[in-house]
Amino acid sequence: MAHGLEHKLFFLEHLPELEALLDWGCADGTLLAEVRKQRPEILLLGHDTDERMVDQAVAKFDGLEWNKKATIWEDAPSALEALRFTAEWAYRGRKVPFSEPARQYGGTGILFSSVLHEMYTHGTSAQMRQHWKDVAATGVDYIVIRDMFWGPQGDYLLSEYPTPYCQFIKWIAKGTHSAQLTEFNASLPCGESTMEARIATEYLLKYPFVENWERELEEIYFALPDLRPVLAPLGYEPVYWNHHCPDFIQERIKKDTSIDIPFNTHLSAIFRRK
Ligand SMILES: C[S@@+](CC[C@H](N)C(=O)[O-])C[C@H]1O[C@@H](n2cnc3c(N)ncnc32)[C@H](O)[C@@H]1O
Repeated sequence: MAHGLEHKLFFLEHLPELEALLDWGCADGTLLAEVRKQRPEILLLGHDTDERMVDQAVAKFDGLEWNKKATIWEDAPSALEALRFTAEWAYRGRKVPFSEPARQYGGTGILFSSVLHEMYTHGTSAQMRQHWKDVAATGVDYIVIRDMFWGPQGDYLLSEYPTPYCQFIKWIAKGTHSAQLTEFNASLPCGESTMEARIATEYLLKYPFVENWERELEEIYFALPDLRPVLAPLGYEPVYWNHHCPDFIQERIKKDTSIDIPFNTHLSAIFRRK
């Protein structure tokens, strides 16, 4: 299994009782396919706003039912409501609205893997508040989050981190990625003349994705806020919280740039309904 995939499935070992899982932003179904391999008993549901992705997921899960009407953020009263009725499919031929497994089974979860930063990049804060209300209203037992996260590390100017970030500057100065970096800088909000450690780290995460570069530039990687105060009033508490920089990312950055990344870049978290 690819490192990234293994990393994304961290929650499986913590949730042995999981019986139904909705993968929100399931893309081409790669994660769901791996969950099915490892835990065939789990009822799986997928949802994605990109219909082409949903088509690919359907192809992976041959013979399963899937209503292809993808949810469009602005048009849906809420994405979850639309999901319940239109964009759901179920493993083992069972077609169960998500609200039902939430009532019938003990272990239901919604996985948000690498999708929340996109939602926070493109959505408004009112939409995101509503989103979490809708998620909580399903009564789902677990909310699983895996995304990039800067969190409470503070914003430091790059110059405050001469080691190892001075190596970063040298690496850029070599010119290998200078054009890409110029575009990256241009994509930042006006006035970012001095690079912050957070922004530099975002670039270190971003530069390999040259193929989708334009789309990557539109995304704010560290858009995820601290969800603990957001989810607590909705009745969810963190039972697993791991803010770290994944090994495979550290290794890639070290290999390309000689930089030992000194910051946490990712969050793996599980919230449980109180
Ligand atoms: C970076 S991919 C992550 C795919 C997969 N979850 C993973 O971790 O490998 C993000 C996916 O989320 C989808 N997406 C973006 N915004 C969404 C939203 N508001 N609701 C559902 N899916 C969304 C995108 O279409 C894309 O397929």
